[in-house]
Amino acid sequence: MSLPSSVLVVGSGGREHAIVQSLLASPVGPRILCAPGNAGIAADAPCFPVAADDIPGLVALAKREQVQFVVVGPEVPLSLGLVDALAKENIPAYGPRADGARLEASKVFTKQILLKHGIPTAPAGIFTEVGPALAYLRECGAPIVVKADGLAAGKGVIVAQTLAEAEAAVKDMLSGNKFGSAGSQVLIEDCLVGEETSILVVVSGKNYLILPTSQDHKRIGDGDTGPNTGGMGTYSPAEIVTPALLDRIEREIVAPSVEAIAAEGIDFRGTLFIGIMLTPQGPSVLEYNTRFGDPETQVVLPRLQDDLLDLLWQAAKGTLSTRGRAPERPEHALCVVVATQGYPDAYPKGDRITFPAPLPEGVRVYHAGTARDSAGHLVASGGRVLGVTALAPTLRQAAAAAYAACDSVEWTTKYYRRDIGAKQLNRR
Ligand code: AMP
Ligand code: GLY
Repeated sequence: MSLPSSVLVVGSGGREHAIVQSLLASPVGPRILCAPGNAGIAADAPCFPVAADDIPGLVALAKREQVQFVVVGPEVPLSLGLVDALAKENIPAYGPRADGARLEASKVFTKQILLKHGIPTAPAGIFTEVGPALAYLRECGAPIVVKADGLAAGKGVIVAQTLAEAEAAVKDMLSGNKFGSAGSQVLIEDCLVGEETSILVVVSGKNYLILPTSQDHKRIGDGDTGPNTGGMGTYSPAEIVTPALLDRIEREIVAPSVEAIAAEGIDFRGTLFIGIMLTPQGPSVLEYNTRFGDPETQVVLPRLQDDLLDLLWQAAKGTLSTRGRAPERPEHALCVVVATQGYPDAYPKGDRITFPAPLPEGVRVYHAGTARDSAGHLVASGGRVLGVTALAPTLRQAAAAAYAACDSVEWTTKYYRRDIGAKQLNRR
C-alpha cells in the first residue's frame, strides 16, 4: 500500500513539532502541513491559522489542501470528533474517533473498563453527590486521590495528603464552580506509591506496537517539588522499566487494555498512552491518554528506527499486523522543557528569544509556545516554550548537550529544571 504524499498535522506544541520533523524524515518525502503550528514548526512546514478545536475549519482545510492523511496531536479535537468528521469526507486520520477519545476524556469511563476487565488499577469510588463522597473519604482516610471525571488540562487530579484537602477538592469539583461539567462526577481512589512511567502504544484495533519507554518530570521544581505541570522534561529509555518489567507490563496491562478496548466495541486506531505507577505490588494503571505525550514524544520519536509515517498510516488503515515492540535506536534522548517564569500560573508573554550560538551536535529545539512579534523576532507566547532535546550515546552526554543549549538560549524570563534525567543518572 503506498504511503500518503501529503499530511496535515493538527496541534501547536513541542509534540507536534517532533511529529512534523519525524514525518519529514520519511523516505517517501511527504509534503507536511500543520494547523495551527507555531513559529518553530513554521520553519519546517507551512502552517495554517486554524485552531486545533475548530473541527469544521480543519476538515475544510484538509479538503482544500487535498491532504491524504491527518495526524492529530492533542486530545481536544479527538474528543470533539475530528477523526469521525474526516472519515465522513473519506480522509484517513491517525487518532481515535470520539468513542476512543473518551478513554482520556472521562476518567470514570476508563476506571469502569479497567475494573471490569481486571486490569491492575487503584480501587476507586465514583460519586455525583457531595454527601456520599465525603462519607467515602472519611471511611478511606488520607492520603487519598480525588479526580474530576472530565478533561481539566492536567488540573483535575488532587493527591490529597490530608482529609481536609480531599474534602475541599470534592466540594470544589462537585459544586461545578471550578471544573464546570468536567467535575460533575468525581473519582476517589487509593493513593498509590512508586515511580511513574509512561508507556506509549501505537494501537490498531487488536494489534499494537509499544514505543520506546520514557519518563516525564511533572513538577515545576527540581527534586520533584512545587505544582504539577504539563511536563518539564523527559528521557528515553527509562531504565527503571527493565526488559523483564516491560514484559510484565505488556502481559498485565498493554495486551489486556487493547483487548478490553476492542471488547467494548471501540475500534481504536491511535496512540494509547498508559500512565503507570510502579508500585511495590507491581505496575498499576493511573490513566489512559489517547494521544502522544508531550514532552514524551520529543524523546520517543527520535529513537524510533522505522519510518513514523509508515507506522501511523498502517495503524490508521488497520493494516498493522503485529503485536510487540517498535525497533529502537540505541542512543539516549533527553528533553528539557524551557518555560516562561511563572508557569504553571500566570506568566508574561512576548519576551524575545535569541539563539546566539550554533546548537551542540545532536541537539534539536522543538518549539511549543513560540510566535513572531511584529518585527519578525522570535518571542515566547506560552507557558512551555521550547523542548531542547539531545540524542547521544549515553544519557549523561545527552543531558550535557541539552543543558549546554538551554544555558546558551538568551531570553529574560526563561526557566527550566536543572535535574532532568538525574534520577536515572544517580541510580547507576
Ligand atoms: P492522572 O491524570 O490520572 O495521570 O493523574 C495525574 C497525576 O496524579 C499522576 O501522574 C500521578 O502523579 C498522580 N496520581 C494519579 N492517580 C494517583 C493515585 N491513585 N495515586 C497516587 N498518585 C496519583
Ligand atoms: N506529559 C504528560 C502528558 O502529555 O499528558
